[in-house]
Amino acid sequence: MTSLLAGNRAQSVSARPKNLSLSNVLAYGEHMARFWRPGSERPRATLVDDEEGGVLFVSAPPSSSSSGFGHSSLERQRQRLPVFKYRDAILYLVENHATTIIVGETGSGKTTQIPQYLKEAGWAEGGRVVACTQPRRLAVQSVASRVAEEMGVKIGEEVGYTIRFEDQTNPSVTVIKFLTDGVLIREMMDDPLLTKYSVIMVDEAHERSLSTDMLLGLLKKIQRRRPELRIIISSATIEAKSMSTFFQARKKDLLHAAEDCVPSHLPAILSVEGKGYTVEIHYVEEPVPDYLQAAVHTVLSINDKEPAGDILVFLTGQDDIDAAVKLLREDTQDDRRRTSGLLVLPLYSGLSRDDQGLVFAPTPKGKRKVVISTNIAETSLTLEGVVYVVDSGFSKQRFYNPMAIEEDGFGERGGRRRGKEEEKEEKRRNHTYSQQHTMGDGEISDIESLVVTPISKASARQRAGRAGRIRPGKCFRLYTEEYFLKEMPTEGIPEMQRSNLVSCVIQLKALGIDNILGFDWLASPPPEAMVRALEVLYSLGILDEDAKLTSPIGYQVAEIPLDPMISKMILSACNFGCSEEIITIAAVLSVQSIWVSMWGAQKEFDEVKLHFAAAEGDHITYLNVYKGFLNSGKSSQWCYKNYLNYQAMKKVVDVRDQLSRLLRRLGLALKSCEKDTQAFILLFTCPLTILRKAIIAGFFANSCHLEEYSHNGLYKTVRSSEEVYIHPSSVLFRVNPKWVVYHSLVSTNKHYMRNVIAIDPSWLIEAAPHFYQLRAPNLAPC
Ligand code: CDP
Ligand code: MG
Repeated sequence: MTSLLAGNRAQSVSARPKNLSLSNVLAYGEHMARFWRPGSERPRATLVDDEEGGVLFVSAPPSSSSSGFGHSSLERQRQRLPVFKYRDAILYLVENHATTIIVGETGSGKTTQIPQYLKEAGWAEGGRVVACTQPRRLAVQSVASRVAEEMGVKIGEEVGYTIRFEDQTNPSVTVIKFLTDGVLIREMMDDPLLTKYSVIMVDEAHERSLSTDMLLGLLKKIQRRRPELRIIISSATIEAKSMSTFFQARKKDLLHAAEDCVPSHLPAILSVEGKGYTVEIHYVEEPVPDYLQAAVHTVLSINDKEPAGDILVFLTGQDDIDAAVKLLREDTQDDRRRTSGLLVLPLYSGLSRDDQGLVFAPTPKGKRKVVISTNIAETSLTLEGVVYVVDSGFSKQRFYNPMAIEEDGFGERGGRRRGKEEEKEEKRRNHTYSQQHTMGDGEISDIESLVVTPISKASARQRAGRAGRIRPGKCFRLYTEEYFLKEMPTEGIPEMQRSNLVSCVIQLKALGIDNILGFDWLASPPPEAMVRALEVLYSLGILDEDAKLTSPIGYQVAEIPLDPMISKMILSACNFGCSEEIITIAAVLSVQSIWVSMWGAQKEFDEVKLHFAAAEGDHITYLNVYKGFLNSGKSSQWCYKNYLNYQAMKKVVDVRDQLSRLLRRLGLALKSCEKDTQAFILLFTCPLTILRKAIIAGFFANSCHLEEYSHNGLYKTVRSSEEVYIHPSSVLFRVNPKWVVYHSLVSTNKHYMRNVIAIDPSWLIEAAPHFYQLRAPNLAPC
């Protein structure tokens, strides 16, 4: 049992907590016995040394009770969580293993409790910090607030959080820090070995977000240089064994450390058994024509027929969710009987802290809470009181196919692939879903888009599980049983394998990892996507011909925590003399949406937007909105009157401030093309043209032209002749200029361009002569 002996040596390490210095494996059992208070069932801990995989499994069945005398109600709540019974087992494993993998049902207390246990055991002493990463920003804020509340401290002090553009920590006092995995990767640029952290808990690892996968690869590298660092990987469901194989450190790497500081190189796996109740599953008999309407009807019917208990509805994104909230709230006015007592609340990232508070607050007496959420409530957040789940069967996911469909050999391959996909899609549609809300084919080439996608069986099970938290519950699936059994994919695809890798490549390059294809990935990204990312970065002037970061542009872009295309746009704006305006645009593009959703009220929405609309497009419109907001004295009333989201506008001001500080730090000039008349270029060009040229400097690859005989606003991308349309939320919707550049694509039944500006095609060649050529009569990619 070599692994156990290795663990045994850890007991004399002085830098680490000693309260669990166990002398041998048997003592582990005794220790558990001490932990289980008199009267409680003695735990049976089993240790299995798996020769084949070299993995240590630990399973300690929970006991039935725990004492709670003299404790506050929050303290009692903490002790009732399933993870509490594993507290000492977790601390023991963390002390003795470089990596510990903890699998436990959602709501068992992994995220909120484990960082506190670590702090209590001394891992946050001597200036060290315990970090816990999450893939989602909203989850970071929410769990940090909860932990601060449980510890009775103010958020931003002992317990803090950092998400992009928001740092609620105090370096001299924060000891538990929640952050997104993306932010932690960024911290490595200043501190490559993450030296201030004693333990890093990578939470929600099953989500396999792009940043989580990158982080895991990077942490594995750091672990070799820092044997004293402890890594915890935790999640609701996880392929624990493959994760463990990935993290098996080579013993000789760890032996670089002092002899008494060697943790076991074998990862330990701990499974926390939850106490979920049974959930009755209901399917629709026939495919529903529109999942949004079906979700609303199901909520009303639960309210009519089922006893008390909150309802959690899974839809896909802000648009869907706002629409459903509106329908259910409207119904309250039309038919009070059916919706009486319903408290309908949305839940998606980008929600203000106040609105988040409402979702997590206890349901008022006599009310039934209906939370309409993205898949954030699938595992990242636990809502108490949910007894009914309504599952649309969809979520919004990123999709990217690096392969451009061209008139060479690829064309045929692409065509065949699309044909098959279309067939499959048609089948799905007939089986389950409406035309209005189904995804596109998800295979749009060389363009990343957000696609409404069928979820996996693993997700469907997680969603159902949310109904069994406080008592037996019910899950209403808005798809047929046949679809679930025969067609729903078993697992989702890791984001790494369906994403544009541009940001990922630039970050790894900035961290000095040159051989990106040879990087130690948990699952290798598609080589085509990697090559495509290198090409894009080269075309943006961020990488040179040897695939190294260019100086200064490449290094500067890597410093800006935004998509490299936006960063390039900002840097170009500094040369064009319009950085003041462009950072406002960049700030607006980095918040979810500044408009209050006007689903079902397109006419009113259009009228309101006319106050601000600029013929040049959305980006310039945002400048008008921002000016109006400043002129109003940043008034919430003004926002309300103009259908603008006040919280989002405040965030824009904040992000803009941070960007201007960042540019100053990079030594770049902040200039306005409107006010700064000395910008020499202004003598020849109008400010609105300058602004659009700066935007094109970053987004030239996203150009599209209107199809000549199109009467329905059909555009084709210049890069790969994909069919796209202007999104109805754009000020250029129905205006249809001949040439446009867009910021992002979103796909439902069609591919829609969001945030669009009208351009002159000659600007594309001016901005990227290496990318475009004039091929009479049209423009074509080189
Ligand atoms: O991470 P895991 O899903 O295992 O559980 P958790 O997020 O640590 O949640 C443990 C408990 O804390 C649950 O009962 C949650 O309802 C509660 N919690 C809360 O009340 N408010 C939050 N913002 C987060 C968690
Ligand atoms: Mg959690």
